Amino acid sequence: MIRFENVGLRYGMGPEILRDLTFQIEPQSFQFLTGPSGAGKTSLIRLLFMSLRPTRGLIRVFDRDLSVISKQELPELRRKIGVVFQDFRLLDHLTTYENVALPLRVLGKEESDYRADVIELLKWVGLGDRMHVLPPVLSGGEKQRAAIARALITRPDMLLADEPTGNVDPPLARRLLRLFIELNKLGTSVVIATHDIALLEQVDARRMVLADGRLSIFD
Ligand SMILES: Nc1ncnc2c1ncn2[C@@H]1O[C@H](COP(=O)(O)OP(=O)(O)OP(=O)(O)O)[C@@H](O)[C@H]1O
Ligand SMILES: [Mg+2]
Repeated sequence: MIRFENVGLRYGMGPEILRDLTFQIEPQSFQFLTGPSGAGKTSLIRLLFMSLRPTRGLIRVFDRDLSVISKQELPELRRKIGVVFQDFRLLDHLTTYENVALPLRVLGKEESDYRADVIELLKWVGLGDRMHVLPPVLSGGEKQRAAIARALITRPDMLLADEPTGNVDPPLARRLLRLFIELNKLGTSVVIATHDIALLEQVDARRMVLADGRLSIFD
């Protein structure tokens, strides 16, 4: 699904943040991405989402070499990927419902076709009674769940989630983890960046550990 070969990343003239990363994300796989703060988890998520290009090395996405993919083609590829950003990136002038429905609207779908799905997903993440409020009045955990719902609404082939349980209490973190596991069983590859040890201990999943710019993988 995604393959990295000797990928390196630096920002500007800074030091190499990621060095010699070689790994694959298989279809329908489940993995945690861990490592201390500043290790490069968010940077790696951005590389996987193609919002950042590597400084060196090769990235293949859905069997295509990223270096020859044009800017115009990126949205099409990204459509297969759902992403939950560490800082949520909800649009403050749209309601929770509208934020979650937005990816479908962008695809040109009719509201009558997706309305029930959006409401069901919002209920699933526990936001059934927060649908019609604007993000600025949501709590951190509510924003997080809205961002997760927005990433899932298109039923992506791959879900990238950056610290998706950073703002929720342990019971809700467990519930979200179950949601990710269920999603994975339905065929979506899942990559969760986290330093939440309690979360890691709940699933026997592949671990990708970043330290000093290098990646170690424990299957
Ligand atoms: N846009 C940027 N420009 C320059 N340096 C950056 C940029 N983004 C990240 N960095 C640097 O790259 C390194 C890795 O950052 P990154 O955000 O990927 O780490 P992280 O593992 O996600 O950390 P955290 O657990 O705190 O979220 C850090 O040293 C950071 O300062
Ligand atoms: Mg981060």
